[in-house]
This record gives sequence, structure tokens and C-alpha cells, in this order.
Amino acid sequence: MTKQLYIETVGCQMNLLDSELVVASLRKKEYALVDKPSRADVILFNTCSVREHAEEKIYSALGRLKHIKRQHPEKIIGVIGCMAQNHQSQVFQRAPYVDLVVGPGQLHQIPDLIEQIAESGLPQMEVSLDRKGGSRETVEQSFESYDPLRMPEMRPSRYQAFVRIQIGCDKFCTYCIVPKVRGPEQGRHPRKIFAEAQQLADEGCKEIILLGQTVNSYQYKESGKTTRLSDLLYQLSAIEGIERLKFVTNYPRDMTRDLLQAVSCLPKCAHYLHVPAQSGSNRMLERMKRGYTVEHYREMLGQIREEIHSVAVTSDFIVGFCGETEEDFDLTCALVQESQFKNSFIFKYSERPGTKGADNYPDDIPDQVKKDRNNKLLAIQNAISEETNQQKIGCEYEVLVEGPSKSARKQEQNGDRLQLTGRTMTDDIVVFDGNLRQMGQLLPITIYDASAFTLFGEVRTQHVGPEVYSLSPESAT
Ligand code: SAH
Ligand code: SF4
Ligand code: F3S
Repeated sequence: MTKQLYIETVGCQMNLLDSELVVASLRKKEYALVDKPSRADVILFNTCSVREHAEEKIYSALGRLKHIKRQHPEKIIGVIGCMAQNHQSQVFQRAPYVDLVVGPGQLHQIPDLIEQIAESGLPQMEVSLDRKGGSRETVEQSFESYDPLRMPEMRPSRYQAFVRIQIGCDKFCTYCIVPKVRGPEQGRHPRKIFAEAQQLADEGCKEIILLGQTVNSYQYKESGKTTRLSDLLYQLSAIEGIERLKFVTNYPRDMTRDLLQAVSCLPKCAHYLHVPAQSGSNRMLERMKRGYTVEHYREMLGQIREEIHSVAVTSDFIVGFCGETEEDFDLTCALVQESQFKNSFIFKYSERPGTKGADNYPDDIPDQVKKDRNNKLLAIQNAISEETNQQKIGCEYEVLVEGPSKSARKQEQNGDRLQLTGRTMTDDIVVFDGNLRQMGQLLPITIYDASAFTLFGEVRTQHVGPEVYSLSPESAT
């Protein structure tokens, strides 16, 4: 008999991919996905620890399940992913009705652990002992044992898929918990990346998004030969059926010429780069241990724009990091103003116990100041985003159609016509009226309106059929 599974995911793209793979491994054990925890036999939360807010959200969600568990003690509740690794047995202390705690390096064990809980009634926990716990080979094998499993229904669209090329992070920015919860940086074998991309292409996938915390630092060394991200892009470009390649997230210091040249000359590579700057103040960048100055960042941005035609760059910023003065913040505002990012994600600093930042510097910027800085920086960025989008009105772009827009998903469908959404080569979201049959196609779309985050367009009518041929210049002569 099929069992019901509910899963909720927070955090970055890496977590979305992990959830897809966890669901795929449970589907093999006859689990079907449901959209309400009340209907599920197994309830999983795939969690994030990057900011305190992300963790508190999960504890609140767990709190809401307390009465369900009391009424149905046979239901299995699991906390998996980064917060499971970060809090370990603390999760059981704060939510004693949780049955399962599994870190990001042990996700492949979930089906077996669920079986053990069902048999014994005892809670189970599997996490890495520490960053060094578990040899590189073991961690690599754990990923390979479940990375090839895919689950198109879990993706934002069945035409796009994430492919992991790197796990972990070795950069240790002082504010960041990721190196602690995701372990040491390791590149995945190029052959395995290629095989997974090929399999996805065979299943009809058109766009592949390569994932790594510092994806452009990717390296794989074997028999004296080093494969870098640029090499991967050349290899993956050769796969028939794959129309677009993207990669996130880039580390400014590792943005090498060979990579920019590959993006520029490979027609399948999106002209879109996410390269978080984090701050415009050298004093803050040094405290953050980012390994570059604002001058380096500017120079790198110049190189990107020199090498890649009409490229869109996006960034992340942290406001209110320890000791950030008004002058430091003004420097960040100036960097955002001059850099003309397509978009920036702005975060209020959240102290993470266990990081160098938490150990060495007091979290001394009042929350109201963080909020004000966040709003001010967002207003600067939004004005830029809106202005750059306005300039796209009247232009035509090739859009990869992803599926019904958010509002269309909520509405009753009116015949075959409905509002669709897709993305351009520079990762702009385009909303337009279309037909479900167009999903997965690359369509020419002319933009007639724009907001800061969305372009509104119309499909250029493609004339097909005999009457068009009879009007074409060739047949007229
Ligand atoms: N590996 C990526 C980012 C991972 S976390 C990179 O290096 O760019 C995503 C973003 O969250 C970061 O870019 C940073 O802006 C933000 N972030 C990380 N730790 C944070 C913290 N403690 N408080 C607030 N924001 C944080
Ligand atoms: Fe965190 Fe820095 Fe690694 Fe990104 S590069 S995951 S911000 S430590
Ligand atoms: Fe969060 Fe883990 Fe990603 S901490 S940002 S889900 S790597």
C-alpha cells in the first residue's frame, strides 16, 4: 500500500535539489507526495541555518504539529538538512515529538531510518561528527548514491534541473554557518556530472543549473589533469537537447578569464552571473574574511562586462554586520548605485553561534538600524532594477517557457489559453499569454511592460502554413 509523504523545504537551491532527491528515494519505497501534513504518514522539514529566522520558522512549524503527533503517534516527523546538522540532538530537546534528525551528508539513509523508526518506535539521528568526520570518499559516495535519482514533479519546472557539481565550502566567511553544516569543499567527478546531465536531457530537460556554494571555484584533479568550471561548460554544451546552462553561486575572487570567455563564446551559456559582493566597505570585507577588496570587486565586474555581451549580474549584501558604521554602509550604497546589478538580495546580519564572527565580534548594530539600512539599500536597488527593466520595453527576447504563472495556477483555466511564465538568457522572468503546449519551448517574446522584477510580453506571431508561404518574398518572385 502506498504511504503518504509531506515535505517542506527552506533555504537555498542546494536544499531544493536535496528535497527532490529525498522524495525520489522515498518514492522507490512506494511513498506518494501529499500537500498537507495532516494527510501524511511521514512529515519532513528540509531546513536551513544561514539565518536565525530560518531556524525559528522550522521550530514554529514543528510546534504546530504537536497536536497531530499526539493524536497520531504513528506519524513520523523528521528534521533534515543544515539545521539538523547544526542543532543535532538539540532538535529533540526543543521538539521531543520529532522522530528523525538527518544531516545533509546522510540524506541517502532516510528510507532505512524511517523503516527502523516504524519497527522500533525509537527516534533516530544521523549527522556528520564534525567537518572532518567521515572521509572524503565516504561523503562523496553518500552523494553519488542518491544524486542520480531524479523527480521532475519536485522541480520548479520539468524543463529545468539542478545538477550538483560541488559540495561543501572551504571559504569560512566569518558570518557564515555553511562550511560548518555542509562540510569541506569537494568537486564532483566530471564524468558523473556529464552522465547526470545527459540523463536529464534524455528525459526532456532543457536547462541545467550547476550548483555549488562557490561554483566557480570548482576543480577536479585526476591523473595530473585539472577540470575547471569552464571545461565543464564546454563538455555540457555538447549535449543535444540541453538549450541553456547556468551556474550559481560565484565567488568574486575565483572569477577567472577562462570562465568568462567560456560564458561569452558558448551559445548555450546564460549571460547571467550571481556574484555576491556582501559589502562595499573594505573594513567590513576584511572582517567578513571575504578575501577581496572593493577595488578587486569593481575590477572583476569590469572584466565581466568587457567579456560578456549584455550580461546581467546579481549580488547579495549583508547589512548591519558587526561594527558597520554609517560610513561603511554609505560605501555599500555607493557600490550598489554604481554597479547596476540586475537585482540584489539584501540580508540583515544574523549572528550564527559557532562562526568566527560570533566568537570575535559583538553583534552590536541595533535591529532597527539593520532594518533601516536594509530598506534603504533595497530602495536603491529596486529603482535600478525598475529602470533597467523599463529599457527592455519594445525589445524581443528568446524565452524558455517554464509553465503557468503564479496567478494562473490559482485561477480556473480558461480553455487552452492561460498566463505562462518563462525566463530570458539573462534570467529575467517574463509573463505572457500562451498555451500549455508551449511549455518547454524557446519562444520569441516582445516586451510591452515591465516592473522591477517582471517583464510582460507577447509571443511574436510565427507565421506558418501555406498562406504565409504564398506571401513570402521567395514565392513572390
Ligand atoms: N555561497 C554563497 C552564499 C551562501 S548563503 C556565496 O558565498 O555567495 C547566501 C547569502 O546569505 C550570502 O551570500 C549572504 O549574503 C547571506 N548570509 C550568509 N550568512 C549570513 C548571516 N549570518 N546573516 C545574514 N546573512 C547571511
Ligand atoms: Fe558562506 Fe562564504 Fe562559503 Fe558562501 S563562500 S557559503 S558566504 S562561507
Ligand atoms: Fe541554508 Fe544550508 Fe543552503 S544553511 S543557505 S540550506 S547550504
